[in-house]
Amino acid sequence: MGIIGRMRRPLEDHHLLLMAFFVAILLQRAVVESGALNDTRYRHTSSLRLERIKRHLEKINKPPVLTIESPDGDLIDCVDERKQLAFDHPLLKNHKIQKMPTEMPGGMKVERDTSDMEGEGISQMWHLNGTRCPKGTVPIRRTTVQDVLRAKSLYHFGKKRSRVSLSRRNDALDILGNNGHEYAVAYTESSQNIFGAKATINVWDPSIQVRGEFSLSQIWVLSGAFEGPDLNSIEAGWQVSPKLYGDNRPRLFSYWTRDTYRSTGCYNLLCAGFVQKDARISIGAAISPLSSYAGKQYDISILVWKDPKEGNWWMSFGANTLIGYWPKELFTNLADHATAVEWGGEVVNTRTNGQHTFTQMGSGHFAEEGFGKASYFRNLQLVDSNNKLIQAQDVSTLAPNSNCYNIKMDNSNDWGTFFFYGGPGNNPKCP
Ligand SMILES: *[C@@H]1O[C@H](CO)[C@@H](O)[C@H](O)[C@H]1NC(C)=O
Ligand SMILES: *[C@@H]1O[C@H](CO)[C@@H](O)[C@H](O)[C@H]1NC(C)=O
Repeated sequence: MGIIGRMRRPLEDHHLLLMAFFVAILLQRAVVESGALNDTRYRHTSSLRLERIKRHLEKINKPPVLTIESPDGDLIDCVDERKQLAFDHPLLKNHKIQKMPTEMPGGMKVERDTSDMEGEGISQMWHLNGTRCPKGTVPIRRTTVQDVLRAKSLYHFGKKRSRVSLSRRNDALDILGNNGHEYAVAYTESSQNIFGAKATINVWDPSIQVRGEFSLSQIWVLSGAFEGPDLNSIEAGWQVSPKLYGDNRPRLFSYWTRDTYRSTGCYNLLCAGFVQKDARISIGAAISPLSSYAGKQYDISILVWKDPKEGNWWMSFGANTLIGYWPKELFTNLADHATAVEWGGEVVNTRTNGQHTFTQMGSGHFAEEGFGKASYFRNLQLVDSNNKLIQAQDVSTLAPNSNCYNIKMDNSNDWGTFFFYGGPGNNPKCP
């Protein structure tokens, strides 16, 4: 959805009006792109809509104990853990907060205090402020009116569009009504039940040509069928989404749904569901530093797994940081186990002016370029029914538009099952 889609007034066939319309678009674009969003944007928004948005924000932005200003402009609210949005969910009215997992997947220790862990040399922009969230509070990126105004509507804000993923048919994966979504992924549909997945993901800042597009690199933990009404999905990784965040920074993100991307679930903590536990890693906040071409490489480890006793799905980051969990109450199929896992990149290509856009996946370079140039996922692992981390086996790859974005899988002693993936989007072979 481009700039025009956000204009609310009907366009009449009248030259003066048309001119005013384009001037307004230019003005709006200038303001949007300078990041200095102010009244200009509001003037195009009815006061009724603004009121509705503000009321919504009062519900989702819980009153902070302390607010930390990030150099990138984000406001990180330190919210009392027990007062976070998750507990507004009707299914979580009687939910008892799980302090920590009963057991980490085989071989990993449960750390008592994880608030100092920051992954392997990776941290988040807002840590540069120096102030930390006080004990008993959790860091939550504040949602602004501008964040919501960039969405098609309040209803669409924070949601993923339906039919955005891969579909299974006769052991093959096809793209179904993909809305311009393109993929380069590895996947496994183990005959064994799956209780979690892990990978270490290289972090880049792919460029996005059109504001409504995004580029992400993530793990999908799935249960159910894409064709059905009740696909359950838990997703986590990094993404660049100007529409969701108002900038081009790669951000740690998560997503969940239990009804095939229809009405349940959302990104990050934008709706009630995910219970944040860690005081240091904020979902939706920018990651720093980033990898550079033929330069230093940075990666993040993400593990999503089901607590074998309590049944909640936990997310851990880096070596041992327990970010929080999706309570079992949220799910139907995933309440038991996952049936498939995918790892890889996804972009939206809006085909502006009839051409594939220049939106990049990963580093913006094809898989053949290898380490330091192409983006990677390494040490792909699954959690088995004994809560053991095992190297992912029987992994296949899929990149239907391999002239635009591709993937090459391999394995080694150090990196286990791994792959390079990505691409530049538009190029002579991908017009
Ligand atoms: C917002 O932009 C308008 C120009 O459209 C300007 O007159 C006004 O002073 C700006 N307001 C703020 C708070 O910066
Ligand atoms: C840190 O955040 C506070 C707001 O809590 C702000 O007043 C301060 O200027 C910020 N410091 C830096 C170095 O950005």
